[in-house]
Amino acid sequence: MNRDAKPDHPIHALFIKRHSPYAFDPARPVDVATVNALFEAARWTMSSYNAQPWRYIVGIRDDGTDTWQKVHDCLVEGNQPWAKNAPVLVLGLVKTTFAHNGNPNSAAEHDLGAASAFLTLEAVSRGLCVHQMIGIDPDKVIATFAPGPDIKPLTALAIGYQGNPEHIPEAYAARDGRLRERLAQSEILL
Ligand SMILES: Cc1cc2nc3c(=O)[nH]c(=O)nc-3n(C[C@H](O)[C@H](O)[C@H](O)COP(=O)(O)O)c2cc1C
Repeated sequence: MNRDAKPDHPIHALFIKRHSPYAFDPARPVDVATVNALFEAARWTMSSYNAQPWRYIVGIRDDGTDTWQKVHDCLVEGNQPWAKNAPVLVLGLVKTTFAHNGNPNSAAEHDLGAASAFLTLEAVSRGLCVHQMIGIDPDKVIATFAPGPDIKPLTALAIGYQGNPEHIPEAYAARDGRLRERLAQSEILL
């Protein structure tokens, strides 16, 4: 199954290879050094005022803690049947205010997105896949993890190696088979 992007202009192979699969290989864990490298890439992302408002809660399956399970349980029902095969499940949160003056950071969500994109490209360079999700239950994240004042749960990330779509429910496997479409450059360049 080839999910490569088909760009209209030449771009780096990392962008061509990156995609968001529904099928993850449940039998292939991600080692801790690799997980550390992914968050190191996120850590060095640019951000407004260098505020670094991204926060993550990282669940690694079978690491002797229940964090992976707790993160899994914070996903909406529609994301659980496929995300359960990912050996690493992560919650993305933002610090909504600046540390130095308490004012709202209007770039916080933007900067979490940038950090997760950097993480994703580091992952792709290591043969991994990342599938982000907006489908989480933020109230459940707060009740479960008590992330602290001014910390807003926003996304989740499923991280692991590509799996076989035949091993996941058909409705999700079909999504891995559908055409990857994009707006034309003429539509996004205003
Ligand atoms: C912030 C964000 C939230 C997303 N939320 C979900 C989600 O909750 N469930 C889901 O199945 N896919 C989700 N996706 C995946 C997108 O549907 C996917 O990125 C898009 O269809 C383009 O496919 P590609 O990443 O393979 O190029 C999300 C992606 C992003 C970046």
